[in-house]
Amino acid sequence: MEQEMRTLVLLKPDAVQRGLVGEIVYRFEKKGMKIAAMKMLRMTKGSAEEFYSVHEGKPFYNGLVDYITSGPIVGLCLEGENVISIVRTMMGKTNPAEAEKGTIRADYGIDIGKNTVHGSDSIENAEKELSIVFDEADFV
Ligand code: RTP
Ligand code: MG
Repeated sequence: MEQEMRTLVLLKPDAVQRGLVGEIVYRFEKKGMKIAAMKMLRMTKGSAEEFYSVHEGKPFYNGLVDYITSGPIVGLCLEGENVISIVRTMMGKTNPAEAEKGTIRADYGIDIGKNTVHGSDSIENAEKELSIVFDEADFV
């Protein structure tokens, strides 16, 4: 069953630093997704630790928290049918070297850390992640 849902996308520091915000947002808009909220922010260490708590204890966890807090990012709440899985498909595999041709990570990703975008992987995680990045007042 197709279902109207929402997801969190982050344009990671490498995307903002390289001036890729417009191009990446354009891809989601062209695909017909609705932008329900959007803002630039710099994540605090505390928010990043909560955001990535599922990865706590993994060897890349500290680097992940350091990276996502290293500069400005852009958060997007996207809405649409099956938006979670469609965004994940558009992003491509975690490691840009393995990402399918034409995906965001294949086209722009630098390495497994600087992989340009984040997208929630489930309804439950989307709601948790949206609440870390956005306040009620951000939804216009
Ligand atoms: P994301 O959460 O960023 O949308 O990416 P994902 O689901 O494809 O990857 P996930 O397994 O959730 O990992 C989160 C982020 O951690 C970094 N990572 N590094 N060095 C490593 O082995 C490794 N594995 C994952 C990536 O930057 C990934 O996006
Ligand atoms: Mg993930």
